[in-house]
Amino acid sequence: PRIAAIVVAAGSGTRLGAGAPKAFVGLDAHTILRHALRGVFAGPLAQVIVVAPQDRVGEALTDAREAAGDRAPLVSVVAGGASRQESVAAGLARVLPEIEIVLVHDAARALTPPAVFERVVEAIDRTGWGAVPVLPVIDTIKRVEGERIVGVVDRSELGAAQTPQGFRRDVLEAAYAAAEREYTDDAALVADAGHPIAAVDGDPLGFKITTPADLERARTLVAGDPI
Ligand code: C5P
Repeated sequence: PRIAAIVVAAGSGTRLGAGAPKAFVGLDAHTILRHALRGVFAGPLAQVIVVAPQDRVGEALTDAREAAGDRAPLVSVVAGGASRQESVAAGLARVLPEIEIVLVHDAARALTPPAVFERVVEAIDRTGWGAVPVLPVIDTIKRVEGERIVGVVDRSELGAAQTPQGFRRDVLEAAYAAAEREYTDDAALVADAGHPIAAVDGDPLGFKITTPADLERARTLVAGDPI
């Protein structure tokens, strides 16, 4: 199938506190976005759409072209919106007519191994469903009301969702067109539109760089494995 990736990189990075939009913070000589695109371009894609903050579109294009090498003609950059969902929608509007599968990936999950992309695409091919990488939940999860613990959730039935999340293009477009509220991820939006979603194995390296501690961890990891 012909596959496109939408890489959302239009977040502000407020929780990271690194003084720049998150995807444009450096891990080594290269930005979070550049590292994320290295993983994206490891696969056989027909189109890559980067969604960047309005004032970073030029910078994102430079990063994306570097990461793409001789596949630079496949890359485009579009300005994002106020929410992640709006940013994905902006990317979706640019998907080429011949694309059959769309992978939506957080730039902030910069160290996601290429094997995770492969597992998502394989599951879509095999099931015809959407597909999401999940990790088992390690901590015991409590229900908390104020200062009182009121219950415990059976963690064996939980999975922590990562990206890339992949869908048939027609399914994703119809679900976005029908969405009437904000969802925290694309799989929830597509599931609410009535479509089944497959779970595939995620990877601990697919963690989302969110806090200063995450940034430290990512910097340590890439220091041992430069681009
Ligand atoms: O804020 P959070 O870490 O959940 O964002 C997940 C991903 O969505 C990040 O890669 C971020 O750049 C992107 N995003 C976006 N547009 C927004 C908010 C977040 O592209 N308005």
